[in-house]
Amino acid sequence: MSTKINQNYLKLNESYLFSEIARRIRVWQSENPEVSNKLIRMGIGDVTRPLPRSVVDAMITAAKEMGEAETFRGYGPEQGYDFLKEAVRKYYTKFGVELDSDEIFISDGAKSDLGNILDLFDKDNTVLVTDPVYPVYVDTNMMDDRKVIFAMSSEENDFLPMPAPEYKADIIYLCSPNNPTGAVYNRESLAKWVEFAKENGSIILFDAAYECFVTGDYPHSIFEIPGAREVAIEFCSLSKKAGFTGTRCGYTIVPDTLEREGGNLNKMWLRRQTTKFNGVSYITQRGAEAIFSQEGEKEIEENIRYYRDNAKIITDTMDKLHIYYTGGKNSPYIWLKCPGDMDSWSFFDRLLKEAYVVGTPGAGFGKSGDKFFRLTAFSTHENTKEAMERFEKFVMKTR
Ligand code: MLT
Repeated sequence: MSTKINQNYLKLNESYLFSEIARRIRVWQSENPEVSNKLIRMGIGDVTRPLPRSVVDAMITAAKEMGEAETFRGYGPEQGYDFLKEAVRKYYTKFGVELDSDEIFISDGAKSDLGNILDLFDKDNTVLVTDPVYPVYVDTNMMDDRKVIFAMSSEENDFLPMPAPEYKADIIYLCSPNNPTGAVYNRESLAKWVEFAKENGSIILFDAAYECFVTGDYPHSIFEIPGAREVAIEFCSLSKKAGFTGTRCGYTIVPDTLEREGGNLNKMWLRRQTTKFNGVSYITQRGAEAIFSQEGEKEIEENIRYYRDNAKIITDTMDKLHIYYTGGKNSPYIWLKCPGDMDSWSFFDRLLKEAYVVGTPGAGFGKSGDKFFRLTAFSTHENTKEAMERFEKFVMKTR
């Protein structure tokens, strides 16, 4: 007799995309120690601006409270403290979205909740993802052996696939502004997806992790679209918004109007979280609350502007070199066509070896990324400028 394992793990790529990139960088660094300090990282979407002062101050105060018997707190509510849920609720009113505080669940980030939410769904459900795709959506479903189908995107649809009869699925993942393409759905397009989900009884898992980069009249939340409360769950993260990639905090919105087969998804998620999760630390939640204060919002806007300026440096370079790209306007990601018809892993290797710049090969996000490459605007101004100078020289050399 022997323990049975989840065989689906054996069907996954051996390593997660960003772990593979980190491995290639380590190999290159060990073979090229004399230039390894010249490396500029624009691969994984990790931020460089430190936590805002107001967040740090709130966390220090909270840490001090935890050190005094009178103000010490043990287990908190699994779904988050009321003070943070209230801050998130108010934030949504800016987009005209009215939420009940019980519809907001505080988490340690969008990635974990996007994986964990699958506990609520049968393994027989069919899943639709747009391709290119954030690999977490696909891998977490493969772990459960769910059937995944792909809505392909390309230059022809500006990397914004739309519903079609062959895309009927029980669970639909949408990410807008998109990771990795930076493309953003407008209201009309998002309304078509909501309508499509309604017609087919599907649930949309909407990843809003990059909503803070939206400018102009694009939706920040799927709940700005009429009817979305009956078909969608939304995931958001404070990682990119406020530099929480290492601090970890996000939130998930499960409307109390979302029901399937006699089950209320909000109640099911509460049951799941209270059983398997003990909540985000009090100190972190106090830090997160400060993001939504007047002072915090001002500081965050400065950080976002900083990254937007980087994105502009990158898109200006692409314009100058006449390279096709999406993103960079409502997103920290720039999704560009590899010059010289190179495939994305060859481009990755050459850019690393010849320009010491790291990006993310499009192939890592799916078939339609084979000839594309993702750069992030999360570096410093100095490094972004330097990287784009090297990028330009490299591209000119290959022409
Ligand atoms: C990315 O680079 O795609 C993101 O940083 C990944 C993530 O947020 O988990």
